[in-house]
Amino acid sequence: MSNATLIKTATLPKTKPLTDAEKAEMTREILRLKEEKKAVILAHNYQIPEIQDLADFVGDSLGLSQQAAKTDSKLIIFCGVHFMAETAVIIAPEKRVLIPDPNAGCSLAATITGDQLRQWKSEHPGAVVVSYVNTTAEVKAETDYCCTSTNAVQIVNAIPEDQEILFLPDMFLGAYVQRVTSRKAPIHIWSGECHVHAGIGIANINKMRDEHPEAELLVHPECGCSTACMYHKATGKLKGEVHILSTEGMIRRARTSPAREFIVATETGILHRLKKEAPGKTFIPANANAVCQYMKMITLEKLLRTMREDVFEVRVPDEIARKARLSIERMLAIV
Ligand code: 13P
Ligand code: SF4
Repeated sequence: MSNATLIKTATLPKTKPLTDAEKAEMTREILRLKEEKKAVILAHNYQIPEIQDLADFVGDSLGLSQQAAKTDSKLIIFCGVHFMAETAVIIAPEKRVLIPDPNAGCSLAATITGDQLRQWKSEHPGAVVVSYVNTTAEVKAETDYCCTSTNAVQIVNAIPEDQEILFLPDMFLGAYVQRVTSRKAPIHIWSGECHVHAGIGIANINKMRDEHPEAELLVHPECGCSTACMYHKATGKLKGEVHILSTEGMIRRARTSPAREFIVATETGILHRLKKEAPGKTFIPANANAVCQYMKMITLEKLLRTMREDVFEVRVPDEIARKARLSIERMLAIV
């Protein structure tokens, strides 16, 4: 499916909102079925509050896959987008992984296919491929090192300085890594972007900083503003605390920082968890319209259907999973 088609099909559900009583009843039934089936429910930090609140674990993309591998449960219900559920299958091949909506895609992962990567590699023979975790299993299988927003710099720094690198798919994370590592050999960057994070620009940051001059700034590296934020921070134009972090990194920072107020540059679903984990602190979205329609495709109704009917299983062919796992294991050997 093309990126444009993905975005168009991922419109927010138009169904009548559930009443609180209906939500409570559905939650009870989901939890009852979870016990009966000895399942574990994993939810990404951008999921709707009701899903986060009933999940066994809430976290970032890689953290959730690691939870999938760790748990004794043989049945994983993955409330997140499809590439994340695939990553769980790759890391925990002996478990069954179900996703409540198989159409919950990712505009960033959709920017590069296995064929496109094979073509790119053929244009740069000998280059090492570093792929951000927001990629399909097929792309991971063509990758040397997987990386996450937390460890991208560390992974690139572990590769010899004179080694050419293909970095994909996020151009903002790529530019950030390029600037921080300033290597001898070129880093070629795929020009992919997440439509949600690309919409968080430096103008949003400047406006919020003017309105909340005391607030600490937390920025996800996929944001359109991440390179400018780093640059302005280095040149002293952006004053105060500025942190470029994964979603889980933001949660940790909010808990431990002495600041009382934070501007949060990422998808707004994270605000629910931030408020829960750091009560009494204030969190201001850098752009209140930064909402990922794919993440919001996972609803209580769909989760209940998954629990009742055992749908939809996420599968990755063995050979692809084996190769993709290697790219993740190489990453884990470094971090
Ligand atoms: P994290 O791994 O930081 O949670 O990011 C995943 C993602 O999709 C960001 O949009
Ligand atoms: Fe993908 Fe962007 Fe949604 Fe994250 S926020 S899942 S990168 S579309």
